[in-house]
Amino acid sequence: MKPYRVNIPTSIFFGRDIWKEALKETGAILNGNIMIVTTGRSLIRLGYLENLKDAIMENPSIKSVLVFDQVSANPKLSEAKEAIELAKKEKTDVIVGFGGGSAMDMAKAIALGAKTDDLIEDIFYGQKVVGRDALPIIAIPTTAGTGSELSRAAIITDSEKRIKGGIRGDVLYPKAAVVDSLFTESVPFDITMQTGFDVLAHAMESYISRAASPYTQMQSEYAIKTAGEMLVRLSKDLNDTEARQNMSYASMIMGINLGNASTGLPHRLQYPLGAFTDTSHGCGLAALYCAWIDYEYKYSRDKVEKMLSILAGDPIRGKSACIDAMRKFISLLKLPVTLKDLGVDRTHLTDMSEAVTGNLANDPAAQEQDIIRKIYERAWEES
Ligand SMILES: [Fe+2]
Repeated sequence: MKPYRVNIPTSIFFGRDIWKEALKETGAILNGNIMIVTTGRSLIRLGYLENLKDAIMENPSIKSVLVFDQVSANPKLSEAKEAIELAKKEKTDVIVGFGGGSAMDMAKAIALGAKTDDLIEDIFYGQKVVGRDALPIIAIPTTAGTGSELSRAAIITDSEKRIKGGIRGDVLYPKAAVVDSLFTESVPFDITMQTGFDVLAHAMESYISRAASPYTQMQSEYAIKTAGEMLVRLSKDLNDTEARQNMSYASMIMGINLGNASTGLPHRLQYPLGAFTDTSHGCGLAALYCAWIDYEYKYSRDKVEKMLSILAGDPIRGKSACIDAMRKFISLLKLPVTLKDLGVDRTHLTDMSEAVTGNLANDPAAQEQDIIRKIYERAWEES
């Protein structure tokens, strides 16, 4: 077995309806002026945001609680700049990310930007390095999907230049993650399936990754099996709280894989899709997956067959059968199977190909010549 290292610097609190207790235990982190960063509306409507504010205020060392809720589904650089200015002005001490991946990614960008004089856009474009200082972050996910609560990345979009990319650094790891499946129970069907597919994508890409270890692969296999069973259950009954909890768990352990094994081509290729079409992360991934499996099969056949067999709960052999199993699963979740389904204009494929950024080398299929263009073309035609 090859030597490996696993890094999990975040304290994890996991369970159903544990959030209040968990917040008490994070009391040493929560002090002074708090900024809650959230995606807003449904959490406000359900009273969750008010309850969270009240619970935080119970801590005697809290001076103030401010809410920043101007966060888009694809969080924007312009929103980060605005929030960083606010955090500096209000002398924010701790950032609480409360929402889906966009809220947590934005929380990380603010935590970083608030502790430096460097501009966040310069850090985003790599003109300035990610420093060693950031405000402490507590991440409270309300969807089962991104795993951002345990990762060292903040995924941000420059909407003017149509570039979506990641700011990454160990300083962005949240101090604590409170993963409470109670918050996911009111998430509607489409978002449940989109975020659930993201869990599956993290599991599959980190399984194939050259940076995978026996530990992350064990977790990937577990998450693929969980997604395969629990998303099918949730597609029939959104009130299945056991399935919700299992998906929150799978999402969380895939957050560990994000920081320890990395994602692959579909994630790199989804970013331009999000920036060009403003479609969700999960929808974009789903529309790319059959095409990715098609090319990845050539380089990682045994792993691809194993992943699809675990997902389907039956042995799957051969490229066509793998693609068919993938397409069947995506269709069951009512997600787009092709870029055409996603509403992508074919004339944008060249611009999108040129907008792909980030490290591709961990994905074995990246050695295929012109792979980015090939996957986009295949994903557009796939039917
Ligand atoms: Fe993802």
